[in-house]
Amino acid sequence: MSTPQPTFENYDAYIGGLFALEDGILQGTRTTMQAAGLRPINVSPTGGRLLQLLALMIGAERILEIGTLGGYSAIWLARALPPGGKLVSLEIDEHHAAVARHNIAAAGFARTVEVRVGPALTTLTAMQQAGEAPFDLVFIDADKDGYVAYLEQAVALVRSGGLVLADNTLRPDMLDPAGDGGAKRYNAAVATHPALVSTVVPVLRSEGLDGLTISIKQTLP
Ligand code: SAH
Ligand code: DHB
Ligand code: MG
Repeated sequence: MSTPQPTFENYDAYIGGLFALEDGILQGTRTTMQAAGLRPINVSPTGGRLLQLLALMIGAERILEIGTLGGYSAIWLARALPPGGKLVSLEIDEHHAAVARHNIAAAGFARTVEVRVGPALTTLTAMQQAGEAPFDLVFIDADKDGYVAYLEQAVALVRSGGLVLADNTLRPDMLDPAGDGGAKRYNAAVATHPALVSTVVPVLRSEGLDGLTISIKQTLP
C-alpha cells in the first residue's frame, strides 16, 4: 500500500485514530443533528479532544460555552468535568437547543449541562448582573461578529488562571491585510488584552486549516 498524501485531512485522521475516536454517543449526536437539519459546523473529533484536554489540564469544574448547536462540543467538554461539575451552554436558536438537549441527555449529561436560549450577549449580561459564580473555562463558538463583545464578558466571568478559548480563529481572511472579520478582530483584541496571555493554535480539519485561540487570565498585580 502506498503512503497517503500528507494532506491536512490525512494528518487529522492519524491524530483522530489515536486520540479522538468517536463512540456511539458522539456518532449518534452527529446523526441526530443531520436528521434535524443542523449544519455540520461542530468541532471535529480532534478539536473536541483538544477542548476536553484543556479543560482537564486546569481541573475545570465550571465551564461556559457560547454557541451550542447540537451539543457536540458540549459533550466533549462535559466529559472533562468531575462529578458535580457544571457546563452552561448559550444558544440563540430554539431548535438547535432542543436537538442539543436530546443529545446531551443521551450522553448522560442532562443534569450536568444546562442549555440557555437567547442572544448570548443578553444572557451573558444577565449572568454578570446575577453575580453567577466564576467559570474555569469559557469556549466561544457562536456568531463571529459577536466574538469581541463575548471576550469582554468572558474575561469578567472567568476566574484568574482560567481559560478563554475561541474557535475558527485561523482562516484565510486573517492573512488579508484588509480583512476585518470578527475572528480576526478577536485575535487582535486578545493579543493586546492586559489580563490575558494568548496564542492561536493551528487545528487540522478535513476542510483544511483552522485555529483555536487559547488565552489564560492572569492575576493582575
Ligand atoms: N460549539 C458547537 C458549534 C456551534 S455553531 C459545536 O462545536 O458543536 C454556532 C452556534 O451559535 C449556532 O448554533 C448558532 O445558532 C449559535 N448562535 C449564533 N448567534 C448566536 C447568538 N447571538 N447567541 C447565541 N448563540 C448564537
Ligand atoms: C461556521 C461556524 C463555526 O463555528 C464553525 O466551526 C464552522 C463554520 C459558520 O458559521 O460557517
Ligand atoms: Mg466553530
